Amino acid sequence: MQEYLQNVHKYVAFCGLGRYNREYIIENLMRVVGLDRKGSMKFTKKWKTYIATGLIIASFGMLAAGCGSSSGSADTDKPLIVGTNATFVPFESKDDKTQQLTGFDIDMVNAIAQHLHRKVEFKNVTFDSLIPSLNTHDIDMAASGMTITPERAQKVLFSMPYYQSGMAIMVKDNSPIKNYEELAGKTIAVQLGSTGATLAHKIPGAQVKEFNHSNEALLELQNGGADAVLVDLPVAQYYVAHHKESHEKVIPYANTKEYFGFAIAKNNPELQKAVNEALTEMKKDGELNKIYQKWFHVDAPDMPIQWPESK
Ligand code: ARG
Repeated sequence: MQEYLQNVHKYVAFCGLGRYNREYIIENLMRVVGLDRKGSMKFTKKWKTYIATGLIIASFGMLAAGCGSSSGSADTDKPLIVGTNATFVPFESKDDKTQQLTGFDIDMVNAIAQHLHRKVEFKNVTFDSLIPSLNTHDIDMAASGMTITPERAQKVLFSMPYYQSGMAIMVKDNSPIKNYEELAGKTIAVQLGSTGATLAHKIPGAQVKEFNHSNEALLELQNGGADAVLVDLPVAQYYVAHHKESHEKVIPYANTKEYFGFAIAKNNPELQKAVNEALTEMKKDGELNKIYQKWFHVDAPDMPIQWPESK
């Protein structure tokens, strides 16, 4: 029995309970089974064995439940560390004046964190380092306009889709390029590790210029260093609408339909479940629609619950 209690002690310590709580639990366990110095030996030996066995089963159940959720939603003490690449307007960017992160994804994450009763801490990193950072546990979640793809889904878990996107070709107003086929042999600027980069690499004879940050690819077109940019449609549309001076236009690439999902480490299905529950709730009570309206002035479309393969 003493040995069992010592093991419980270690287990409780492992679960991260404070010293006071630990001692309180152990002391009471000992008192109930009559093993403490002060407690009177009221029970017969047979009854003590029954009680001890019951306690062992019950306490292990409780402790297992407590420990099991330590990396998931119930772990409300630790802030949720969210990685993003804040160069993707209007999903995530740094406000010039306040230096605060702003955008659709930022609002979404803050709303989800409220559902999880957790604080959020954002880490602004390069886009292609997000998936590795999840797997090394430098971040808990990536919120970065990340398209759910079968290749990525082999490395990380995804939440259910929260945004419907597509690809676009951005060119100068006076460009002769009219469609994807005409990008053959051209110089194309993209963000490193993005779905735009994957698509660009499939274009025959194209010279692909890859940038760490999405806004650098957009600037390359503006400065005449590229014939086109391959980027997500909402980002292209937002840029062109807000930068009339750069004389650019957007050609939607009709063959693509992409869904954004929040990425989570493979070994953290608890967080995936909690985020999905929050998203379901936000879809039901209109909160997601409110955030969609705020940034895109349209209602959120119906989105699949399971992640689909991007086409
Ligand atoms: N949707 C694209 C992808 O998943 C581009 C995402 C870029 N995001 C960013 N925050 N820079 O590859």
